[in-house]
Amino acid sequence: MSSENLVTLDVKDGIGIITVNNPPVNALSPGVPEGITACFEKAHADPAVKAMVLIGAGRSFIAGADIRQFGKGRVRQAIGDSTTDKLDASTKPIVAAIHGYALGGGLETAMGCNYRIAVRSAKVGLPEVLIGILPGGGGTQRLPRLAGVQVALDMITSGRHVPADEAKALGILDEVVDGDLLTAAIAMAKRIADIRPLPHISSNNARVIGIDPKIFDAQRKSIARRARNQKAPYNCILAVEASTTHPFLQGLARERELFVELENADEARGLRYAFFGEREAKNVPGIPANAPVQAINAAAVIGAGTMGGGIAMSFADFGIPVKILEATQEALDRGMKRIRDNYATSVKRGSLAEGEMTARLSRITPVLDYADIADADVVIEAIFEEMAPKQAVFRQLDAVMKPGALMLSNTSALNIDEIASVTKRPEVVAGAHFFSPANVMKLLEVVKGTETSAATMNSVMAMGRAIGKISVGCGNCDGFLANRSRGPFGMEMVILLEEGALPEQIDKVMVEFGYPMGPVAVGDLAGLDIGWAARKRRAAADPNYRKQPISDRLCELGRFGQKTGKGWYRYEAGDRTPHPDPEVTAIIEQVSTEMGITRRVISDEEILRRLLFASVNEACKILEEGIAYRASDVDVMWLYGFGFPRYRGGLMFWADQIGVKDVFEQIQRWHQLYGARWAPSALLRRLAETGTSFKDAKVG
Ligand code: 3HC
Repeated sequence: MSSENLVTLDVKDGIGIITVNNPPVNALSPGVPEGITACFEKAHADPAVKAMVLIGAGRSFIAGADIRQFGKGRVRQAIGDSTTDKLDASTKPIVAAIHGYALGGGLETAMGCNYRIAVRSAKVGLPEVLIGILPGGGGTQRLPRLAGVQVALDMITSGRHVPADEAKALGILDEVVDGDLLTAAIAMAKRIADIRPLPHISSNNARVIGIDPKIFDAQRKSIARRARNQKAPYNCILAVEASTTHPFLQGLARERELFVELENADEARGLRYAFFGEREAKNVPGIPANAPVQAINAAAVIGAGTMGGGIAMSFADFGIPVKILEATQEALDRGMKRIRDNYATSVKRGSLAEGEMTARLSRITPVLDYADIADADVVIEAIFEEMAPKQAVFRQLDAVMKPGALMLSNTSALNIDEIASVTKRPEVVAGAHFFSPANVMKLLEVVKGTETSAATMNSVMAMGRAIGKISVGCGNCDGFLANRSRGPFGMEMVILLEEGALPEQIDKVMVEFGYPMGPVAVGDLAGLDIGWAARKRRAAADPNYRKQPISDRLCELGRFGQKTGKGWYRYEAGDRTPHPDPEVTAIIEQVSTEMGITRRVISDEEILRRLLFASVNEACKILEEGIAYRASDVDVMWLYGFGFPRYRGGLMFWADQIGVKDVFEQIQRWHQLYGARWAPSALLRRLAETGTSFKDAKVG
């Protein structure tokens, strides 16, 4: 689109209508702020124009600054220093007419206007903190003046999208309408055309004077946990604080200083990368985006265990009726009870309304007979991890499911092709690997079998999005992308314990790095028996399988984690706090002795790098095999599946910051020291030799 068409001015009946037209979301890309300014100046100078309306074409008002422009030095300048301030200085009234989203620079632009009107489905917010910056177009100075300091602190430090009705109640919007937005906005503009003096948020100081400075410390305390290792949330607070201590223009200057500190920091770069990586994951190479998509109006789940129940809840939570099938009434009753209990806990915690729980439960129908699920658009098998029983399920599905139904397996490791091979329709079979708890975790790993069709891949990716998941595609191999890339991390962890580390040291290192919980404590939460069973299976199948004697010994003692009150740690009844346990230390030391290892002090740095580099190397192998399509897909999986700190971008982005060459050389040193498990991948070697980053690696 040529820059003249990005923003247009239409004068109708005394009202200047300024329309932003920069699809898909009207980001403030180069040309847009300039276009708004030019149209505004033209309308302002036109004696026929009594008032103005600023509106977005297409699906949104303005979703904010163009995030792709960050780091190029023009964002703050484009928004903060010109357009918004010019609108704010207008002597003719301007109405911002909002539909879709008014986010970041979009809401800031709207706050430069005198009035704001929105449709009921619109959302407003200042989500800059989520990409590691702060509202740099005057948002930290205007929102407190408009909605109060506490509201501004909450919105700006959380970045949440506020629905129109709530925004009206908070004073951010003047009017919410149900009919045609432009018509309502023009009517409003005519109504207020002669009102003087015009309301200007910048001079509305009543809400920012006499504020008790203690609220800023309280806010810092309240975000301390989620803002660990980050600067942006704290700069957001400082900027809002400035609105209470500085006159408006000086407040803007302070906002600018605090913004500049953030824009090019690692935190902002990591978060921007994560933002685009997540969106890039939607495109599966070789699958045309216009391949047909199966609409999902009814779903079915086979197996009412923890996973099956969580998957059924995921559909019910998003309004899709789902049947859940079990082999026996008893198992079905147990599964339904677990689902009811889960919802009841949410109601008790206040995160779910009782009526909503009833509605969600009413969408889940327990059944015993395959004939009852035949008309579902998608069926997801979620029984235990064994090939033969899974194949038996797929034979039954093949016999009953209606033509075109998607037939998916929630396996986390087994071969999709072997599962598909027992059906006459392997093209509709794919992996749909949910993460536990399935109704909470946002990652959906969508696994393409050899015969999975483009339409099936597209449909499963879309299905994930329809139930609030981040879908990431990959190819078929043992453990697929997520678990296979995570495997060496787990293995290296137990080897570090054998060599001299203790669970509490490993957890401390990883929590300090930014994980919400240490990996050893996560093991206790998930239950150690699952891994034990998998190890036994693998050891039986592979004589060279590397045993994990410490983990095995804990399980032999019935230490399965939190559920047995003991695992890697000790737990008090009714409390999830992990306590280091001398009994575990003794087991670890005993195993080291039996293995002939002289325990040594292992540095925090070595722990961090060995755990993560082991996975980086494996991820490179998965990339070179073409099972993973791009490094950013690995990162999105680690962010959403394993709790990797988002402000570090993801596993591969983090490794890129260290430098491919350094990673490769370190892995080579460990290869010489430890042997085969550290053999560097060919891709890693090639990237190191050619000085290419993981981000730019051409793979597959
Ligand atoms: N800049 C550049 N591109 C953007 C963008 C932005 N602000 N917002 C969205 N896009 C792009 C996406 O990358 C995507 O591109 P693709 O089709 O090539 O993948 C396309 O627009 C559609 O986006 P989504 O797939 O995310 O569409 P949804 O409908 O799911 O979500 C949205 C829409 C809620 C607006 C979501 O895109 C979003 O949250 N965008 C970011 C909003 C934001 O952070 N705004 C603040 C920007 S920073 C700022 O304004 C600084 C200022 O204070 C100085």
